[in-house]
Amino acid sequence: MADDTKFLLLFFLLSSSLLCFGSEHDIQCLKSVQQSVIDTDGVLKSTWNFEHETDGFICQFAGVECWHPDENRVLSLRLDNLGLEGPFPQGLQYCSSMTGLNLSNNKFSGPMPTDISRQLQQLTSLDLSHNSFSGSIPPSITNMIYLNLLNLQHNQLSSQIPSQLDLLTRLTTFNVAENLLSGPVPRSLAVFPASNFDGNQGLCDSPLGECSRKRWMPIRINDMSSIRAAVGFVLGFVVAFYFPHCFVCSERLRAYVVRII
Ligand SMILES: *[C@@H]1O[C@H](CO)[C@@H](O)[C@H](O)[C@H]1NC(C)=O
Repeated sequence: MADDTKFLLLFFLLSSSLLCFGSEHDIQCLKSVQQSVIDTDGVLKSTWNFEHETDGFICQFAGVECWHPDENRVLSLRLDNLGLEGPFPQGLQYCSSMTGLNLSNNKFSGPMPTDISRQLQQLTSLDLSHNSFSGSIPPSITNMIYLNLLNLQHNQLSSQIPSQLDLLTRLTTFNVAENLLSGPVPRSLAVFPASNFDGNQGLCDSPLGECSRKRWMPIRINDMSSIRAAVGFVLGFVVAFYFPHCFVCSERLRAYVVRII
């Protein structure tokens, strides 16, 4: 055999095996997702049937969108509103060409995976809104450099928003409303409306109120006792201003003041 024929043959063998691996991986991904979620309504169990593997058979599954209808390669996974429960689905790293994931409006709980950027490297859109995810937003999320959309609203996520979120320069949609987040909003996120941060007791800084002001004013102004204290202070000042002799001339008071100081 001529050298270039051998080379061509090798090339075809290699590329076809790569393609094959690609789809094997994506099938493995969906099997793993099906096994790891609690599917109370049985939607995935009834529509994801792995018995007859043909080219593009997974593209018929509910919620699965493929790059090409004849190729078992997942483009996006739309599993919103299916009554799914349990932890964050497992095996998603095997859907290695996936660009979109929507788990919105389910009952998923537990933490977001700490290595989320390794699992979902190519993602441009991640919607985990309206679930019960808890724990902190994993800092590795800042390595998901293709993200355009990050929807995390209506969960139970706590602690601070990772400050390095500045690195996600392609973000056009970002929402963390109705969580348990606290601390400053990273500056690059100030472009998003304040309502996308609503419902988090401890969040501050632009586009919300300044953090420092909150820290220095632990007593709220509408607190009656602080109003009384303020009125008392002003009254005392006015009296001292107009009747200084009452105070300055009083030896006893001066001694007292000196003692406190
Ligand atoms: C995800 O699904 C919900 C419906 O459950 C929809 O409102 C939302 O727009 C979807 N997210 C994306 C990014 O398409």
